[in-house]
Amino acid sequence: MRIGLIGAGHIGGTLARLLSRAGHDVAVSNSRGPETLRDLEKELGDGAKAVTAEEAAAFGDVVVVSVPLGRYREVPTSVRDGATVIDTNNYYPQRDGAFPELDADRTTSSELLQAHLPQAHVVKAFNAIYWERLLNDGREPGAADRLAIPISGDDEQAKRVTADLIDQIGFDPVDVGGLADGGRHHQPGTPLYGADLTASAVRERLGR
Ligand SMILES: NC(=O)c1ccc[n+]([C@@H]2O[C@H](COP(=O)([O-])OP(=O)(O)OC[C@H]3O[C@@H](n4cnc5c(N)ncnc54)[C@H](OP(=O)(O)O)[C@@H]3O)[C@@H](O)[C@H]2O)c1
Repeated sequence: MRIGLIGAGHIGGTLARLLSRAGHDVAVSNSRGPETLRDLEKELGDGAKAVTAEEAAAFGDVVVVSVPLGRYREVPTSVRDGATVIDTNNYYPQRDGAFPELDADRTTSSELLQAHLPQAHVVKAFNAIYWERLLNDGREPGAADRLAIPISGDDEQAKRVTADLIDQIGFDPVDVGGLADGGRHHQPGTPLYGADLTASAVRERLGR
């Protein structure tokens, strides 16, 4: 699968490594340009390239957006029609500046990204796990201590694509609902955020 990454920091860089190891073609980007990503490009090896954010957005069947939320409007709108966009972002007002609609809980950060990229299908995932756990704690299917990654989104096919990728890199996807309601189960301040739970523990915590 062709996967473009917008943001190559703690989470974007980690996902580039894991998805590349799983055999996918990845295109990584950041705000400063591909020349600042040559070390990562070299580390990732064949099948990986550093590109501009516009190119990464246009490259992917799947596009991972992993930037500080305050910069989401800068995400290039060159994302393809029908692409799956995996949104790892969280809202931290101290870092991102105030978003009154989020402070008042009128919407969620993933719905803002969906409105910015209406041609794509946004799935919220990887937002609730610390990057070092993502990098180091993947497990084989069926392992008793395999951690869950909660996902939410409004398009079933995009959620299936995201769930497959999560399984391939060593975690159990757990679908917690649509973008609006599901997202509110795993954004900062919720019981699933940073909780490092197995899939059964996630379902238990949600009362399912
Ligand atoms: N750190 C974690 O453990 C963790 C866990 C779950 C979720 N998250 C969330 O995931 C998102 C990314 O977090 P992070 O820790 O990976 O951040 P980070 O290490 O600071 O990396 C942010 C990345 O976004 C890039 N970026 C910023 N603006 C951009 C733009 N306009 N176009 C393209 N790339 C841009 C940066 O590129 P430059 O360096 O070139 O500016 C950098 O590569 C945040 O919303 C965060 O809250 C983080």
